[in-house]
Amino acid sequence: MGSGFTIGRVGHIGVQVTDMDRSLEFYTETLGLTLTGRWPMGEEGAMAFLRFTDMHHDIVLFTHPKHEEDTNRHIGYKGLQHIAMEVENRDEWLKALADLKRKGVEIVSGPLVHGPESQPWNIGGSGTRSFYFLDPDGNSLELYCDMMKVPDGEQFPRQEYQDVFKD
Ligand SMILES: [Fe+2]
Repeated sequence: MGSGFTIGRVGHIGVQVTDMDRSLEFYTETLGLTLTGRWPMGEEGAMAFLRFTDMHHDIVLFTHPKHEEDTNRHIGYKGLQHIAMEVENRDEWLKALADLKRKGVEIVSGPLVHGPESQPWNIGGSGTRSFYFLDPDGNSLELYCDMMKVPDGEQFPRQEYQDVFKD
């Protein structure tokens, strides 16, 4: 059974970490990535988006301080959080979503847009259309398109729309 859509590349990966400050220092100071933004996630968790050049993120760090109570079957407290694969555009993304559903693959999160247009709290989102599913071992996979770029030296989210979406 072939796939009814085309994946372009591995777009970014999510890494589960136990100490966000320590990991941020390592990924920025030691490896030289740029921090696009760091935002809270859930009750006490955090996520930080890091980039190599001008894509909103290439690596995402996540913490879940309450990991022992986390019953989410596909997210541990350290190690790989998810692998994200990029498709060319919305058309390809919808084809992928339809194709996987047709094949009986369970969509565990999404489809959604990472931004205030579908998540009012998420002004820092990258704008991707995304959905998540699992490989046979329970590893979390994401398929997405339409990631924003953050040109060198610019801040994200941009001031022009940051004010409008404030609570
Ligand atoms: Fe992702």
